[in-house]
Amino acid sequence: MHLLEIGVASGGSLQMWKAYFGPRLRVTGVDCCPFSGMRGELEDHRTSIWIGNQEDPQFWDELVQSVPPIDVVIDDGSHVGRMQLEAFQSLWPYLAPGGAYIVEDSDFFKGHTHWVEKLKHLMDEMQTGFTADSRLKDSVASIRGIHTYRHLCVIEKYDRGQGLRGLVHDWDVLEVGAGVQAPALAEHHAPPPIMSHPD
Ligand SMILES: C[S@@+](CC[C@H](N)C(=O)[O-])C[C@H]1O[C@@H](n2cnc3c(N)ncnc32)[C@H](O)[C@@H]1O
Repeated sequence: MHLLEIGVASGGSLQMWKAYFGPRLRVTGVDCCPFSGMRGELEDHRTSIWIGNQEDPQFWDELVQSVPPIDVVIDDGSHVGRMQLEAFQSLWPYLAPGGAYIVEDSDFFKGHTHWVEKLKHLMDEMQTGFTADSRLKDSVASIRGIHTYRHLCVIEKYDRGQGLRGLVHDWDVLEVGAGVQAPALAEHHAPPPIMSHPD
């Protein structure tokens, strides 16, 4: 599994994720401020630190071409709406199938480009698989779910074999509504109705 965290600071959370997920976790940390000793102290055979601005699409282009597929993104960087959005637009198309994109402190800076406003649009767009956002038009249909909590939101990506045919590009898709039943449901025997209809 490969986790990318935006906002490294002194590396507290990076170390926590490594301890939590264990030795097979690969970590990429991104921060705009190269704090003294940051790379020397934090980098090892499974951890790399990139210095860059989360608002810079060219930075993300370079990064995604150079690192393994990303399974989890945690944005704990600037907390500024337009920057959270830029990082999402740049990284979501490259998030691995079945991955999760997490934005921390989603409440932090309110205003015109508040991240939560974008989320409300994404909730609409997730239903149809279409968006006016040119950066996301080929990948909005891969949103499987959006979960919002106080200060935090999680956007899940469909895994391979899921999704709506014709909506998800370059995806191995499952025909939805064609009599396909999940195994757990097929084995489930519905209980008899508690009340019968008066007629
Ligand atoms: C809240 S701290 C991160 C804390 C760290 N995740 C932890 O829990 O230990 C936020 C970090 O985001 C970085 N940051 C702020 N604006 C940024 C931007 N535009 N691009 C990348 N990193 C940014 C700051 O330099 C700071 O180190």
